[in-house]
Amino acid sequence: MAALGITSPVLFQKLDQLVGRIEHRDPLELASDETFWAQVRSGYRLKPDYINLENGYYCFMPQESLENYLHHVREINYQGSYYMRTVQWSNKQYITEQLAELAGCDPGELAITRNTTESLDLIIGGMPWERGDEAVMAEQDYGAMLDMFKLQAQRHGIVNKRVSLPNHPQTDNEIVSVYEQAITEKTRLLMVCHMVNITGQILPIRKIADMAHRKGVEVMVDGAHAFAHIQFKIPDLGCDYYGASLHKWLSTPLGAGLLYVKKDKIPGVWPLFAETNREDDDIRRLNHTGTHPVATDLAIGNALEYYYRLGPARKEARLRYIQRYWTSRVRDIPGIIVNTPKEEHRSCAIANVGIEGMEPSDLAKKLIDKYRIWTVAINRPGVRGCRITPNIYTTTKELDVFVNALKELAKA
Ligand SMILES: Cc1ncc(COP(=O)(O)O)c(C=O)c1O
Repeated sequence: MAALGITSPVLFQKLDQLVGRIEHRDPLELASDETFWAQVRSGYRLKPDYINLENGYYCFMPQESLENYLHHVREINYQGSYYMRTVQWSNKQYITEQLAELAGCDPGELAITRNTTESLDLIIGGMPWERGDEAVMAEQDYGAMLDMFKLQAQRHGIVNKRVSLPNHPQTDNEIVSVYEQAITEKTRLLMVCHMVNITGQILPIRKIADMAHRKGVEVMVDGAHAFAHIQFKIPDLGCDYYGASLHKWLSTPLGAGLLYVKKDKIPGVWPLFAETNREDDDIRRLNHTGTHPVATDLAIGNALEYYYRLGPARKEARLRYIQRYWTSRVRDIPGIIVNTPKEEHRSCAIANVGIEGMEPSDLAKKLIDKYRIWTVAINRPGVRGCRITPNIYTTTKELDVFVNALKELAKA
């Protein structure tokens, strides 16, 4: 990555050598090659104390990315304000352009933020709400965003309508109509998850967005879990706003996110941080958050390099393969409830599983105490279980341990 004013970072030599040997292979076939993925795993420093199936919170960096990041931290600490006053902004712009390429949008429609929360709150809080306006969202959406809508209700008198998503939809239209039924003439904004964080369900965003637009409703997508996990281009989704966390599936250091705003929607958002001297359609007027850890901006470039070198198609295929590896072994067992749809295109790495008659928190506790498996308990409307999120370093052997644990617990 050719950042200005920064000495060369560490190269991804190990990954390059590894990928060089398999480049000709079909990603779907490679997905089950445990020898290859064991080598990817060796690029990570993993705690031996437990099997980590909780990468949904964030996907910590492989060692080569970490070394790059530490290099940037040291370099910026060496250059001090000289860096900040000379090349900070041109480097940020350069990284924004790289990110926009992956997102498939114009760089002028993309801003680097600290996370999804910041990205989406900038939109929710920056909408020109009027008393009585309505917003549509789902019970299964992320708490911080639901809370931000609650604040708008308290401050501006908007009405928030929550739908409930089926865990096992039969068709896309079933989901579209759940949202459609909540829309009235007063609806201004619809929030929808690209990938529901508690179940891993991938929603048919394009169809939901087209339906909402036909009714004059803007669409904001919570893409916290989708970006650099499944392959897509933001403009193809047809949404107006998109927020994602880069420390999740792109594996940047903590504290990196993106906000996409469709060009013609930028002037309509009221900035929550003051910024002077920018045109109304300049997205940078929305996120003047002051001095921030700029080494993270540079590390986004390295995370993109890692992602491209590993290969987006290879990554997606492996993640889907390992999720299906374990869910297919427990889905039909009495007493085990998989809260994630079975159809391939409706999920990728993330899935959720519960045991009949067992509190999610008890399941999580038993998994860590008895089997040394780290997960997170989810107890939300219609979704009671543990969220299971492997990553590219997860082995099928680890998943065998998990499957056996579930079988034992369901029998007990
Ligand atoms: C669906 C969803 N939206 C938003 C967020 C918030 O992400 P962050 O804390 O990185 O802002 C999360 C975090 O897990 C999430 O799962």
